[in-house]
Amino acid sequence: MLFWLRPSEMRGPIYNARKSAKRIRTAVVYGFLFLLMTLVFYALFTFPLAANYLPSPNKGQGGDATKGAKLFKTRCAQCHTVEAGGPNKVGPNLHGLIGRQSGQVDSFSYTDANKNSGVHWQEDTLFEYLENPKKYIPGTKMAFAGLKKANDRNDLIAYLKESTK
Ligand code: HEC
Repeated sequence: MLFWLRPSEMRGPIYNARKSAKRIRTAVVYGFLFLLMTLVFYALFTFPLAANYLPSPNKGQGGDATKGAKLFKTRCAQCHTVEAGGPNKVGPNLHGLIGRQSGQVDSFSYTDANKNSGVHWQEDTLFEYLENPKKYIPGTKMAFAGLKKANDRNDLIAYLKESTK
């Protein structure tokens, strides 16, 4: 049969194979470009949205201690004192809080949950604790619903850092 074909037709299968290889290459390149643009699109448009829901990077920092003092008075002072040698109330005296382990005031009878939590009190742990104490230390007897606003917590922590020294 080959005998009846012209030379160009005899090269047909090779020519066709080259042509389809080229088509596949084109498809791969365009597919790759499409994927890349999709990724760029998602990165540009969804990251700023998602960033709102990520945890705040300045946990417990940059707060206003004056505002924090007011918050402490209205939200914490019925149960806590901050000064050195201050009494325990419903909750323990908080003097020297920053930098120590949970449950260290000897004269206060803590729950095991608080005492054994292993929490080290500093800006970031207080920031999380004060948002929802019962979630952060399950079983704690601190009857406080939590401060939902990150700014409030930052202000309060700024105040605690000064007042509990
Ligand atoms: C209704 C009383 C009450 C209020 C209001 C309250 N606390 Fe407490 N707090 C407690 C009690 C009780 C504990 C001890 C918890 C335990 O042993 O489980 C505690 C424990 C703590 C601890 C851990 C102390 C330690 O030595 O481990 C911190 C920190 C703390 N409170 C901060 C605050 C701050 C800040 C506020 C105000 C936003 C606040 N609390 C409001 C009663 C209260």
